[in-house]
This record gives sequence, C-alpha cells and structure tokens, in this order.
Amino acid sequence: MSAVADQPPFLPWNRPSIGPEEEQEVLETLRSGWLTAGPKAARFEQVVRDDLGVEDAFAVSSCTAALHLALLAGGIGPGAEVITPSFTFCAAPNTVLQVGADPVFADIDPTSLNLDPARTAEAITGRTRAIMVMHYGGQPADLATFRKLADDHGLLLFEDAAHALYARRDGVRAGSVGDLAVFSFYANKVVTTGEGGMLAGRGDLVQRARLLGRHGIDSSVWQRHGTRSTAAYEVTVPGLKYTMPDITAAVGIHQWAKLPAFTEARARIAAAYDQELAGLPGLHLPVVEAGVEHGRFLYPVLIDPTSDRSRDSVAEALREVHGVGTSMHFQPVHRLAAYRHIGCHLPVTEHAAARQLSLPCYPAMTDDVRRVIGALHTVLS
Ligand SMILES: Cc1ncc(COP(=O)(O)O)c(C=O)c1O
Repeated sequence: MSAVADQPPFLPWNRPSIGPEEEQEVLETLRSGWLTAGPKAARFEQVVRDDLGVEDAFAVSSCTAALHLALLAGGIGPGAEVITPSFTFCAAPNTVLQVGADPVFADIDPTSLNLDPARTAEAITGRTRAIMVMHYGGQPADLATFRKLADDHGLLLFEDAAHALYARRDGVRAGSVGDLAVFSFYANKVVTTGEGGMLAGRGDLVQRARLLGRHGIDSSVWQRHGTRSTAAYEVTVPGLKYTMPDITAAVGIHQWAKLPAFTEARARIAAAYDQELAGLPGLHLPVVEAGVEHGRFLYPVLIDPTSDRSRDSVAEALREVHGVGTSMHFQPVHRLAAYRHIGCHLPVTEHAAARQLSLPCYPAMTDDVRRVIGALHTVLS
C-alpha cells in the first residue's frame, strides 16, 4: 500500500502531554541537590493518598514494581493462587510467577472486557489467596461485587488500576476499594512520568511494601539525611530497590493534578468516535456500563473479520495509507510462550483479542480525531 500524497505527519496511538509546570519542577529538583526519593516523592504520595481517600500510598519505579510489592506485602508466595484476567498486560501474571505463586486465568465479560465476577467465583479453590482485577481501558471493574467475593472467601483484593487513574463506578473511585491498588505512569499512560508507579491502599500493607521496596531498611535516606548518619540503618527483611526518585515525582505531582482536565479531553474524543463511527459495518464500539465514569485511557473497538478484512489489515491500512497509529490491548497472556503450558481455554478473551484495536485517544490530539474518523470510514465502508 502506498502513502497518500501531502499526508500530515504520522499520528501515534498515544503521546504524552507535558507542560511548563512539569519542566519547572524538574529543573528546581535538579538544582535542589536532592535527586532521589525525598520530599517530592513524599508530596506525590500525599497527593495520591488524599485524592483517592486511602490510608497510604508509596511512589515506586513502575507499576510492575508496585505489583511485585503488593504480592509480597500480601504474603503471596509458593502454593498460593491469584485469579487474574488473561486479557491484560503480562506484568501482573509475571509478578505472580516471580513470587512463586500460580496465576489462575478467569475469562472476561464480553461487554466491558473486564474480569467476569461469575467466572472468577468458579475459579476459587482452597489455594486461592487473592483476586487481581484490572480496569480495562479505564472502565472500572465491578468493584462492589469483587469486594464481596473476596471478603466472603477471605481473599485479598488487588486492583491493577494502571488504566484507571480517574474513573468511578457508582461514585466510587477505581483504586480505592482493593486492599491494594497499583497505578502506572509509564510513557503511554493516562498521566506519565516516563517510568513510574504508585501503590495505594491499606496502611499496614503499604507500610510493609515501603519497607520491602527500600531494601528492607527501616528508614529512608531522606529521613536519615541531616539528622543522623545515613549509614545508621537496620535491615529487618531482605528487600528490593523500587523507590521513585524526586526527579520523577516532580513530573508526577503536576501530571496527577491534570487528571480531571486530561480525562475530560479524552471523553470529548471518545464522544466524537461514539457519534461518528456508529453504524460502520463490522465495527463494535466500546460500551460504557451504567454508573460508570470512564477514565478513557483506551478507545477499544472490536472489528469483525470478513473474507477480505481482518483487524490486522485494518490496522495496516490505517498506518500505511492514512498515517494513523493504533495499538492492540492485549495479546492474551495464557497464549504467550511462558504461559502456554497452563493450557487454559478462555473463549471470550480469545474472541476479543482477535478483534480488538485501540484508536488514538489522548489530550494532545486536536483535529486529529477527524482524521482518524475519516480514515476509518474510508477503510471500513
Ligand atoms: C494493565 C497494566 N498493568 C501493568 C502495567 C505495567 O506498568 P509499568 O510499565 O508501569 O510497569 C501495564 C503497562 O502497560 C498495564 O497495561
């Protein structure tokens, strides 16, 4: 396929929005003499804790680090099972395996593409210790049902809220219900620090994660700095190094403050897609469930394959002919090489994964939304 002449520059499926506030705060941090986890990381934690209304928050180097710490803090280890969707990024199942436990994949709901509570209940065994929900694309999972399910069976509830930093279901904020919730500030996420993550939730668990995430040392370098020798510490448990540097937190503080505005901008783009793409043949638009205030990290469509069209051929035409980038969320984890031996079959996950395409949907888009709509009309009509 050849590119159209005079085409505007390639439109990536995602691009961060960084403003002068972030730049200024980073500059101040660089000049402050304190670069690693310190006052800015502590401020970022306080901002997130207060905004979510949870007991505590710990700023870390990635969402994957937060997942690892959540499992360790929850005492998940060999012999334990953690129920998780397969229609997710590999980070959560990978960390389950890393702590020596077994991921158990349950199927998703065909409408929300979130973990299905009924399939989750069926997957509970005597070895289950936790349920890990993931808020697909920014639509909160049915947290009230999952909370009850976890409580009824004495399980921990973890929220992988990497996609849902500013989303609610029935007025309840995603990330505020689980025993622990994790957030991602990876480069393509709702808000970004390049790399970074946050762990939030129950005070006792976050405190344990904080200890484990700074080598098992009983105080931070910032706390010891200026008050006692930085070498005067005790290691009470062999931990890891997962702290967020202040340079990163300087970006995060301002990005988090922009969540309402960013989400509004994403919602406007989603509304334009909802209106202008409705009725295109073989195209299924995302459904927002009743009571949901969607975070709109993704605008995930499903494309029915036909004899002369597949999801992959649509993605290729958008990219090669129209210069529009898309992404796919996700390859089902149970089909990846490290997981195939589990040998499970998840019909709803597999159906969705063969059809799903994520359209560009982010605040830095301007008139680009019209370009995406026009391209899809050309490709699908
Ligand atoms: C659902 C989900 N969980 C976790 C992660 C891992 O995030 P990070 O890259 O911050 O470790 C991602 C990243 O893409 C994700 O999509």
